[in-house]
Parts: sequence; structure tokens; C-alpha cells
Amino acid sequence: MSHIHITLKDVSFGYEKNKNILTNISFTAREQESVGLIGANGAGKSTLLKLLVGLLPGYQGSVEIMDTAVKKETLPWIRERTGYVFQDSDSQLFMSTAYEDIAFAPRNYGLPADEVERRTARALDLTRITHLRDKQIYKMSGGEKKLVSIATILSMSPDIILMDEPSIALDPKNRRNLIQILNQFTHLKIIASHDLDLILDTCQRTILLSRGNIVADGPTAEILKNQKLLEQHDLELPLSLLGRPQT
Ligand SMILES: Nc1ncnc2c1ncn2[C@@H]1O[C@H](COP(=O)(O)OP(=O)(O)OP(=O)(O)O)[C@@H](O)[C@H]1O
Ligand SMILES: [Mg+2]
Repeated sequence: MSHIHITLKDVSFGYEKNKNILTNISFTAREQESVGLIGANGAGKSTLLKLLVGLLPGYQGSVEIMDTAVKKETLPWIRERTGYVFQDSDSQLFMSTAYEDIAFAPRNYGLPADEVERRTARALDLTRITHLRDKQIYKMSGGEKKLVSIATILSMSPDIILMDEPSIALDPKNRRNLIQILNQFTHLKIIASHDLDLILDTCQRTILLSRGNIVADGPTAEILKNQKLLEQHDLELPLSLLGRPQT
């Protein structure tokens, strides 16, 4: 199997003609890297993640996942290996119950019934929502739906995890559990979030997007304590670093 990595070269994209939302984005994220994607509202974080899983065709430049270009013909291959959690859970979940949604991908790959059951039970257990197994999605709270969304990708055993605002709506205990899940996943992950403390706890590297441009890409510990840089791009220090003197 080719090496796990994501490579973007000079990627530009706009939803409308002549209006770029992402401009000349280039970076490589390699196996075992954990990358935080930060930026103010509208910076282009969700757009970038959607582009990686082929939800936004018509970009300029090149996007490769494990040496495979992201395009219509390669999407099934890419989606089998890449677990993507939408910012909006209602865009993610489409079956009637948690179990059905979490079992969907393993079933779809043709895994035997006992393996589907094993993976689904494990994903429910990891996200601590076994009690929600047969609950109907439309009756769930926002946080419950987020946890089911996270479980739907864990049951795939992906090589790459892309999560868009995974801690949104989670209570402190579930957020702490999410951090544990993310830290146990060691292949390659990119996490877009305004929860800069979660990024500090889970990502060694951070990419800062501002109006569709990468304005910083480096160690999380350096970027997230750079108050001037964050404020220049309409962000603030993580709560855990507020009030601490900068070195
Ligand atoms: N379907 C769409 N059609 C047109 N413009 C869009 C569409 N989706 C997003 N945009 C625009 O693209 C820009 C970037 O949006 P995006 O959702 O990628 O930002 P974001 O960094 O994820 O923001 P947030 O922090 O609010 O989630 C915004 O200006 C938004 O209005
Ligand atoms: Mg977003």
C-alpha cells in the first residue's frame, strides 16, 4: 500500500466564478502527523476539508491522498480510507438509528455480519454511546448526533481522519473522551476547530488559515501561544494559555 499522506499543491477554489475562497494552498501532511486547522469564521476550513474528500470538484491545483488524485473516479477508494466528520451532523447522518448509521460503512464494504457487529459495538463503546444504539437520530440532541457522527467514522477503521469541529456541542466529559480517541489514533489526522485547547491537546502541528490563505504552518505549541499572530487573524489565545506570560 502506498504511504499515508495528503499533498496539496497550489490549490485554489471558489464556489462562485472569480471569487476564490481558497488561494494557492500547498502543504503535505504525512503518516502519524496530527494537524490542527484553525482560522476565523469563513476562513475556509470546512471548504478545505470538503475538498479533500471530493465534495467540491472543480478546484485548481492538485490534491493527492496517498498518491491518488482526488477526482470523481477515485472517490470510492479515497472515502473508504478517509473518515470525514462534517461540521453539521445533519449532513452526515442519513439512516434512522445510531446503529444503522454506524454499521453502514462496514456493511457497504461487504464485511461479514459478525465483523460489522464487532466494529459497530466497538465504535459505540469508544464514543460511550452504547445506550444510544437503537435511538432514532431525529430524536437526538446536538451532542448525541455529534458522537454518532464520530462513531460512524471509527467503525470504518480509516487510515486518515478529517474532523470538522468535532467538539462542538460536546459536554466536558465527552470532549475529554474525544481528545483521548484522537490521541489514540496515530495514522494521520486533520482537525478543524475553534476549540484551540482541543487543538493544543491533540495536534502537534497547526495550519492557520486566513481568508483562504495559509498564513502560518508550524508547531502547535508555537503558533497557539503567538498572541500577536492569532489576533492579527481574528483569533484569540487558547483559554489554557490566557494570562500566561509568553516566552
Ligand atoms: N455552498 C457555498 N456557496 C457559496 N459560498 C460558500 C458556500 N459554502 C461556504 N461558502 C463561503 O466560503 C467561505 C468559507 O466558508 P467555510 O465554511 O469553509 O469557512 P470556515 O472556516 O469553515 O468557517 P466556520 O469557522 O464558520 O466554520 C465563507 O465566506 C462562506 O460564505
Ligand atoms: Mg467550518
